[in-house]
Amino acid sequence: MKYGFFDDSAREYAILTPKTPYPWINYLGNEKFFSLVSNTAGGYAFHTDARLRRLTRYRYNDIPLDTNGRYFYLQDGDALWSPGWKPVKADLDSYECRHGFGYTRFNSSKNGLRAKVLLFVPNGADAEVQMVTLTNESRAAKDVTLVSFVEWCLYNALDDCTNFQRNFSTGEVEILGGAIYHKTEYRERRNHYAFYSVNATPVGFDTDRESFLGLYNGLEAPQTLLDGKSANSVADGWSPIASHRLRCTLAPGESKTYVFVLGYVENDPADKWAPAPEPGLLQTNPRMRVLNKAKALALQERFSTPEKVMAAFDELRAFWDGLLSRFTLQTGNARLDRMALWNQYQCVVTYNFARSASYFESGIGRGIGFRDTSQDMLGVVHQIPERARERLFDVASTQFEDGSAYHQFQPLTKRGNADIGSHFNDDPLWLVLGVGGYVRESGDTGFLRVQVPFDNDASNTATMFEHLRRSYHYTLDHLGPHGLPLIGRADWNDCLNLNCFSTDPNDSFQTCTNKDGANAESVMIAQMFVYVTPDYAAMCRLLGLEDEARFAEDAAKKMAKQICETGWDGEWYLRAYDDFGHKIGSKECEDGKIFIETQGFGTMAQIGADRGYPLKALDSVKKHLDTQYGIVILDPPYRDYHVELGEVSSYPPGYKENAGVFCHNNPWIIIGEIRSGRPADAWEHYTKIAPSFLEDISDIHRLEPYVYAQMVAGKAARRHGEAKNSWLTGTAAWNFVALSQWICGIRAGYDGLTVEPRLPAEVRHATIGRVFRGVKYTVEVVNENPAGAVTLELVSGDAAIDGTLVVPGPTADVITLRALVR
Ligand code: BGC
Ligand code: NOJ
Repeated sequence: MKYGFFDDSAREYAILTPKTPYPWINYLGNEKFFSLVSNTAGGYAFHTDARLRRLTRYRYNDIPLDTNGRYFYLQDGDALWSPGWKPVKADLDSYECRHGFGYTRFNSSKNGLRAKVLLFVPNGADAEVQMVTLTNESRAAKDVTLVSFVEWCLYNALDDCTNFQRNFSTGEVEILGGAIYHKTEYRERRNHYAFYSVNATPVGFDTDRESFLGLYNGLEAPQTLLDGKSANSVADGWSPIASHRLRCTLAPGESKTYVFVLGYVENDPADKWAPAPEPGLLQTNPRMRVLNKAKALALQERFSTPEKVMAAFDELRAFWDGLLSRFTLQTGNARLDRMALWNQYQCVVTYNFARSASYFESGIGRGIGFRDTSQDMLGVVHQIPERARERLFDVASTQFEDGSAYHQFQPLTKRGNADIGSHFNDDPLWLVLGVGGYVRESGDTGFLRVQVPFDNDASNTATMFEHLRRSYHYTLDHLGPHGLPLIGRADWNDCLNLNCFSTDPNDSFQTCTNKDGANAESVMIAQMFVYVTPDYAAMCRLLGLEDEARFAEDAAKKMAKQICETGWDGEWYLRAYDDFGHKIGSKECEDGKIFIETQGFGTMAQIGADRGYPLKALDSVKKHLDTQYGIVILDPPYRDYHVELGEVSSYPPGYKENAGVFCHNNPWIIIGEIRSGRPADAWEHYTKIAPSFLEDISDIHRLEPYVYAQMVAGKAARRHGEAKNSWLTGTAAWNFVALSQWICGIRAGYDGLTVEPRLPAEVRHATIGRVFRGVKYTVEVVNENPAGAVTLELVSGDAAIDGTLVVPGPTADVITLRALVR
């Protein structure tokens, strides 16, 4: 069943009912000011850090779900309703929510009144702009009341939902004209405040939640709306909010547009205060000093008219069109072509938010993951190489001198922390992959020479390359009894906690350790080591370090041999060895006989290709792990908790790391299939998890059909096919790598661009566009036999062709190629 449709020409997903199977959300903001918005206008805003600078309040796991947001109430005669349906939930005559790239709009109507709402965060502005247009489509004049609502969060989102003994006494506000200012804690250590303004003179306002709602009412029926007048409340502690009441008369056919700005301002500590209260100003306590509002007023002025808003909106659209023009795909297969767009959009959002804030990540639990962001890089580096560079610098700055790493850092402070553990022994290698991806894309060899601190200590730095060298050698210096890398706390699979041995339900699997770590080994890290070696060796050579390059190539050969000897189970790659030296992911195991990760990395790195291992492993994936909804992460699921395995065995069968379809590593198999010469199998795997291909089964899948989810319940689960954790997942980047680099076959290399399309047989002709190091490439693909030989011809432009490698000449700016696959 479908709940909406892709409007391809508008580049929007149109949702036609507020009652989607789960809130279907979008993200606003691209720099520092961010918001989440659901298809019923729920969500929240923050600046830079979802935990430390939360601007509006959200209640997690609330009932019904998703019940706080930026809400509008319309009162038209007896009718009370909301353009986003919530919070009033009155029946609407029409409803539509459209999520576009960086913006969301609503278009609803009731009793001849139409309300259009456009929400976006303009580039270069610390604000969410909300433009509300009301149109009287009836034949009689209407008196319409519009009431706005946002609830402030007291900035630290964790403290905000736990520390009530303090927080109920700290709230402070100011009110001046159409603007409501949230100044809690500004007197002391905060140099920032938020505001919510409208470009009109309100007939009433509220800033105290209880006065607005009534103590026993919910957001669906605020007392002030039932009474028909605002309380004009000035908050004093408790829960400060911001609500405007506006009134207008609309003749038949007449429209009226209001612009609301939810803004954030930082002031210089020396310049925090205004010399005196402005005339007409109201505030919590009249004896207090008042905010320096200069920057807030400038922001309000910047978006004071619909014309100014539309100009900023056009800029935003042009910005996204620019980002999405660097890789384009036209195949005639609408679902595939859509994925090329929406997948890239998700990659940028995931890069921006890391794993912090979604409808499954609370924004208070996790900062930016070392491994996560290094992988996210792979999905955005062609669009925003400069920002990828900056992030890679920040990530590497949290690395320890011995090459190991904190598992995450907080975006506001950029400091590493061990809140969710450290010494995940795969982490260092992801940095090599991320930096390699960046240097291949940009050609910026200089980045390898930039000085980068260890553990954020500016007095202790080394070149970026030296960071990579330590990452690489960290693996080699920490080998276990089978000559394979020690796993540490875990590898990519955060739940393979082989040194944890926890029997206390109050332990976090992510931080608890009861073993010395000298035994448990990861076959996956061994494979990753082999997989990243070509990148590492190439970067050594860019710096003239031939000896180190050779050393690495030799080390990778030895590691591959070791994997064949101690990491192969007969029909597939083993997963790991536990602390007792027992096999994990072997036919000898009772449960957890085969895992996807090592079949993915083993085949991507083509380990044991001369012995036929990759194809055997891929066949085993089909036989044991594949389902109609994608490939499960392991099989059979663990039925019992295994103290020696940790969290992986803690989940019920079919969920998350215990045999869910972990969408993140499905693309590893897709890439492995293509590398092993089986593009048709790759395509089949691709279509099982690509969200646009699942649109018709939204009632089963339940999450947004325009973005990937981290997990779909596996075959052992009763809810097989149901997705969870949409949006912020490494799934986005890896599927884009699979699509762009392997299915489309466009790969940025150190010396040029490889073009080797492996499109599905049903696509006979395709046009692929790619901007690479400033040169615009167009590839016309003629696809006669997807697994056949690729012949590249230069149609126009300055380039040399060497097999499937295109090396641009000195005058190249536009290059057109023809790729014949037959
Ligand atoms: C989840 C993992 C996640 C980890 C760290 C675990 O509970 O299953 O997917 O990476 O927590 O947050
Ligand atoms: C989610 C984490 O963000 C990611 O880093 C990890 O690799 C997967 N879970 C698998 O455990």
